[in-house]
Amino acid sequence: MIKKAIILAGGSGTRLRPLTDVVCKQLLPIYDKPMLHYPLATLMLLGIKDILIITTPKDLIAVKNNLGDGSQLGINLQYKTQDTPKGLPDAFIIGEQFIDNEPVCLILGDNILYWGQLNLLWAECLSVKTGAYIVGTHTKEPERFGIIECDKNNNVISVTEKPEYPQSNIAAIGLYFYDHQVTHFAKQLDPSSRGELEITDLNNIYLRKGELKAKFLSRGTTWLDAGTVNSLMDASNFFKIIEDRQGLKICCLEEVAYNMGYINRSQLIKLAKSFNGSSYGRYLEQRAKK
Ligand code: TTP
Repeated sequence: MIKKAIILAGGSGTRLRPLTDVVCKQLLPIYDKPMLHYPLATLMLLGIKDILIITTPKDLIAVKNNLGDGSQLGINLQYKTQDTPKGLPDAFIIGEQFIDNEPVCLILGDNILYWGQLNLLWAECLSVKTGAYIVGTHTKEPERFGIIECDKNNNVISVTEKPEYPQSNIAAIGLYFYDHQVTHFAKQLDPSSRGELEITDLNNIYLRKGELKAKFLSRGTTWLDAGTVNSLMDASNFFKIIEDRQGLKICCLEEVAYNMGYINRSQLIKLAKSFNGSSYGRYLEQRAKK
């Protein structure tokens, strides 16, 4: 079973300037919490408690101040920095020691998902022994993403980065599950014409060995992209509508930690008090009474 994950939360956030001149993209709010909380909650819901967060050197202190060593949430958080955006596979080189030749999951720090039935659906990916899983979803704009073409058994036929003539409408969402060989393969990659190590090249290594599978989000699962000002606002509105309607928060780290049994009721009450005076704190207090 995959027990470790990396959140890659560096990058430059160029499309969100001037917002990202002040604070990194992953700490910008998505409605009532920082963007980074969404991928972190996803990992916690998958049962992963050992997590390496990779940020830029300039954002490290802010991210660490927010999340600490994770013990308050019953998880283990470690940190590393990426000096420049050298590409997604760089995460496995930076994280070599953390990975320690074990299988690992990678999620991007701006990966925002709203889904149900998490554990059941993802058990297959989490139990990968040899090979890799790439997660995809239907998109209207295939030219903007890494596009996955598959056969009937979800074996990947091709993965193409931002294709001019897309072979399918299935985009890679930025969630991957790799076996223990990933660092070894990442080190074999050469930078592309845009000067980055490409995740598509890494996936193509697994593909050539016949060891790349795809998993698709169901239509009931929503993947949101918050890379532009409009999509950032849309994502906030999306979560506001659902949270207002249900009276339940989505990807609330403290609540997830409690529901998953990582912390007990008295720890949740203590966390609720630390948010004293906010509706977030009052929400946690209510959850602790259930
Ligand atoms: P992108 O959206 O491709 O890049 P970005 O966040 O820097 O934004 P922009 O295109 O507006 O400049 O990155 C997707 C995610 O991956 C995001 O969370 C940043 C992260 N990332 C890194 O941490 N390191 C990298 O080398 C790259 C390429 C991305």
